[in-house]
Amino acid sequence: MAHLKEIGVAVLGFGTVGAGVVETLQQNGELLTERLGLRLVLRGVADVDLDTDRGVAVDRALLTTDAPALIERDDVDVVVELIGGSGVARDFILQALKRGKPVVTANKKLLAEHGEELHRVAAEHQTELLFEAAVGGGIPIIKALREGLMANRIESIYGILNGTCNYILTRMEDEGLPFDEVLAAAQAAGYAEAEPSLDIDGYDTAHKAAVLASLAYGCIVPLEQVQITGIRGVAAADISCAARMGYRIKLLAIIQGGAAGVEVSVQPTLVAHNHQLAAVGGVYNAVLVHGDVVGTTLYYGRGAGRAATASAVVADLADVALNLRVGGRRWDLSGVRTKAPVVFRDPGEIVARHYVRFSMRDQAGMLAKVAAVLGSHGIGIDSVMQQEAAADAQYVPVIFVTAPARDTDLAAALRTISEQADVTDRAPVRYRIEDSE
Ligand code: HSE
Repeated sequence: MAHLKEIGVAVLGFGTVGAGVVETLQQNGELLTERLGLRLVLRGVADVDLDTDRGVAVDRALLTTDAPALIERDDVDVVVELIGGSGVARDFILQALKRGKPVVTANKKLLAEHGEELHRVAAEHQTELLFEAAVGGGIPIIKALREGLMANRIESIYGILNGTCNYILTRMEDEGLPFDEVLAAAQAAGYAEAEPSLDIDGYDTAHKAAVLASLAYGCIVPLEQVQITGIRGVAAADISCAARMGYRIKLLAIIQGGAAGVEVSVQPTLVAHNHQLAAVGGVYNAVLVHGDVVGTTLYYGRGAGRAATASAVVADLADVALNLRVGGRRWDLSGVRTKAPVVFRDPGEIVARHYVRFSMRDQAGMLAKVAAVLGSHGIGIDSVMQQEAAADAQYVPVIFVTAPARDTDLAAALRTISEQADVTDRAPVRYRIEDSE
């Protein structure tokens, strides 16, 4: 291609991140040219809305509503998809890949739902699909897993991958406020979406966990294999009880490999105050990766937002540009790369310590009854905390921290206890405790 000294870039979607990418190319274009030995040149920006002020000066001649025509242009070498969702974004990515044009995307939902198809089409057309911005915003976690940790078998990944949830949980703890109040304040301040379900019900974290797990274990991770619990049900009482016991509640993506299979889950999880992830507050993200050769590595940064996400998108553009310069592609993530099919772990077989809060009748002998049921299911107790009840209270919160217990055993024990109307008036609350450093 005659114009390879210049790499023509088409940006699809002129929202927050699209504007950030355009701005980054303007701001650091010369620096990128120096570093790459070639120039990333914006050929066009497609969006259905060309009138809204995006806070970045861009030649109107570059703006178009016709994304398919922009993708087809001969002077467009790489396509950046920043539309989001799995509708037209998928169509446009497929169009570009089928034309042999590399694509850079931040679209975790699309990757989680259609990654297999997109990577296969990329491979069939001798091109590549890069997605650094899809997980952890500006944190280069995809590059770390794909390249930096190439020599390792990945033992586990623990991630705080949703800034909205982390912001809400942090404020709940810092200010002792209930979930609904903090969510409403976060929405008013623009930190949480008006329709917050994707974030607070754990789906966004699950999409990102599926992407990380597929990289770590060379497999497609169907979303049905991801156990998902969001933060909607996290009570201020549990945050404060956990804090008194030395823990903080975080929405964690938990990805673990091993002989028993792969676990991919998203759940509110207790981490000790001295755990590396406990210090990650507010909108920040962090990913803790254990490799069999390197040991523990930790990645931290802004997981969302215009500039952080643009940083990751432009890094992918640079990667693509360097690959194009040598006339090749380096990243083929099509299909399952492991020899044996990946087995997903039965969630019931997972062994972990748990925080369990009972609403226990305030009467002699109740604690002993609960302890006896736990014991009869082989569940040890690491600690117990009872809060003093008001003089007229019939029920009192009692918190147990269990020893490592098989999930099925714990579930059976808690079911038995819940059925004892003389002991408790409701099902207990339980959260996993993550002990690994
Ligand atoms: N909504 C996400 C978050 C960012 O709150 O972290 C986009 O993935």
